[in-house]
Amino acid sequence: MSDLNVNIFIARRAEAAKRMEDDSILVLSSSKLSLRNNDTTFPFRQDSNFYYLTGFQEPESVLIVHSDGRSILFCREKNPELEKWDGFMWGPKAAKEKFGFDEAYDINQIDEILPNLIRGHKTFNSLVGKSSEFDLKVTAWINKANKMERHQGNIDLKNFSNQLGSMRLIKDDAEISIIRKSCEIAAISHRSVMQQAKVGMSEYDLEAMYMNEFKVNGSREPSYTPIIAGGARACILHYIDNDQDINDGDLVLVDAGCEFGMYASDITRTYPINGKFSGEQRAIYDVVLEAHDAACHAAKVGNPCTDPQKISEKSLSQGLKDIGLLSASLDEILENKLFREFYYHKIGHWMGLDVHDDCPYSVDGKELLFKENMVMTIEPGVYVNDSAEVDERWKGIGVRIENDILINSDGYENLTAKVPVLAEDIEQLMSK
Ligand code: GLY
Ligand code: MN
Ligand code: MN
Repeated sequence: MSDLNVNIFIARRAEAAKRMEDDSILVLSSSKLSLRNNDTTFPFRQDSNFYYLTGFQEPESVLIVHSDGRSILFCREKNPELEKWDGFMWGPKAAKEKFGFDEAYDINQIDEILPNLIRGHKTFNSLVGKSSEFDLKVTAWINKANKMERHQGNIDLKNFSNQLGSMRLIKDDAEISIIRKSCEIAAISHRSVMQQAKVGMSEYDLEAMYMNEFKVNGSREPSYTPIIAGGARACILHYIDNDQDINDGDLVLVDAGCEFGMYASDITRTYPINGKFSGEQRAIYDVVLEAHDAACHAAKVGNPCTDPQKISEKSLSQGLKDIGLLSASLDEILENKLFREFYYHKIGHWMGLDVHDDCPYSVDGKELLFKENMVMTIEPGVYVNDSAEVDERWKGIGVRIENDILINSDGYENLTAKVPVLAEDIEQLMSK
């Protein structure tokens, strides 16, 4: 908190106000503290959109931004008794000063104050559909406000998601330096575990090592539940059991990223637990790597953000054809999307406060073009399930390679380049 630059958040609220029509307000909720089970909670993680506009890290808070630029916070009143149990809370008075709000009130007063604030306004902007509980409150506040102003038009409810997502899409300098750090921690961690991994270690052993590396390198939490998938489990995209042995001769696919200063990193590497790729594993690995490199090069200022997807489909299809896993012509493979037998997810996603950042890929039906300071993952994969009609020797091989890239004026910068990606570099690191 000490080094939080409050002016950044104030400027973002001003920008959000500019993006609203006159006579409108934007209302956003904090995250809730979630109960784990009796008397225990999950660690609190602030809602990313709420954090983006406030920097405020408490639950039970609501932000209002008015189109005239004023902003108001509702938060918990200070409670010394509760602070003995749950720790420091700002309270409205100190929060107003510290975080640069124009006004701040006790959250318990919101049902009275908010309808009065919005009565007679034109538009109520919010992030509709994220929480049914908050949506119900929004409807109640709007209905109450409309009843207070019978002789005026009713307030329109609008989803502000694309506006806020478009703001979050272009990272500012402060965000880029935090993302850089998050990526560096994740990269150092991957490299270190890859070097220590050996036959006899289970998925669980590796998970423990990644978690430890994240923490000792400065990240308290992963940015998502890691995937540590030995052998054929790599073909299950959302495998998170991470509790099986890894057989000698198997690859292990590790998709693990960390959170630093609220920002995510997201890295996947696939490596042989015994330190040496088999012929089939290496052939598939190189096909995926070629698609990865081609997709990265397509991420360039001015190109449609779907170009890496298209390029990866083409490159993977040619590669799968070259190694004999697909036999139709390239045109037929692409036209009938035959590659989907082996590549059944997208090339990547925006990354920032959320690992899958809450930002649009198209606006008004037009796909977005890459601009400087966007951050995206590039993560092609090939997965040969048992059901595939291919020679047995290929079955059970699953490979994904994932890096996080920053779009810059020269093309892109790989923020996670510290983890080896060439098969021979991985083998060399693992032999040390
Ligand atoms: N780790 C989730 C993803 O790669 O999208
Ligand atoms: Mn990932
Ligand atoms: Mn990803």
